[in-house]
Amino acid sequence: MLNASSLLKASFGAGSFFKVPATESRLPDDPGQQPVLVPIRSIGPGERDRIARHLLDLDLHDRYLRFGYAASDEQVQRYVDTLDFDRDEIFGIYNRRLEIIALAHLAFPPAGQPLDCAEFGGSVSKHARRRGYGARLFERTIVTARNEGIGMLFIHALSENAAMIKIARNAGATVVRTGSEAEAHLELPKADFDSRMTEIALDNYGEVDFQLKTRAKRFWTFLHAMQEIRRGGRPASDHTAS
Ligand SMILES: CC(C)(COP(=O)(O)OP(=O)(O)OC[C@H]1O[C@@H](n2cnc3c(N)ncnc32)[C@H](O)[C@@H]1OP(=O)(O)O)[C@@H](O)C(=O)NCCC(=O)NCCS
Repeated sequence: MLNASSLLKASFGAGSFFKVPATESRLPDDPGQQPVLVPIRSIGPGERDRIARHLLDLDLHDRYLRFGYAASDEQVQRYVDTLDFDRDEIFGIYNRRLEIIALAHLAFPPAGQPLDCAEFGGSVSKHARRRGYGARLFERTIVTARNEGIGMLFIHALSENAAMIKIARNAGATVVRTGSEAEAHLELPKADFDSRMTEIALDNYGEVDFQLKTRAKRFWTFLHAMQEIRRGGRPASDHTAS
């Protein structure tokens, strides 16, 4: 059975991409359930609104954990408006309504800075936590970071952020706590054939899933509209007769 560690092994060059078409997760309330594949998609600038909706939905404490301060709505919106999609990578997990329920930001250094370090930031909607989405996003980010020539991935977390620290530690990161802050870094091996093919496979899987969800959503919207027309088209006597 595929699991996250096999993805990591493959992305670190210890396995074959053929064994890891995608990452997987498991619903928390049903430990006996079969693991399910988690499609993760690279997000473009056309989806700033969706990104904003996901982040604005985080409560103040989550924003504090995510950004290091309790960002106001305006600050969150400014962050979204200034996301640089040419330089950075943004990844998302969508639900059937095409809402983003988990988001990762792989931030590369600005021009003029050494290019071998990057930073991970992520968030998962409250109702979707503890399903492994945070860890899967982190692993997905590692694959791209590695292929982009990043040798060191940084994660800035608060010491109280047990979930994020666990995700980093599980992936092999070194975590240093200084008071209320924790600095984690993960050394990445150089890209190779496996890591590149893994990224292509993961990208395709995420994109195909998104296209299928888009079509399904369009179909249900159409069906709903038809039902409304039918209901509205019924003579009033239909409703009052009984
Ligand atoms: C941090 C966050 C992204 C984790 O997302 P998630 O999808 O719930 O995490 P996962 O389900 O992948 O869990 C990862 C690990 O953390 C553990 N974990 C999850 N929530 C936990 C919690 N509240 N306390 C302790 N451990 C926790 C899980 O058991 C799992 O460990 P395991 O694989 O060894 O069992 C999510 O809590 C979040 O969005 N928090 C607010 C924003 C934030 O803190 N961002 C990170 C700063 S960069």
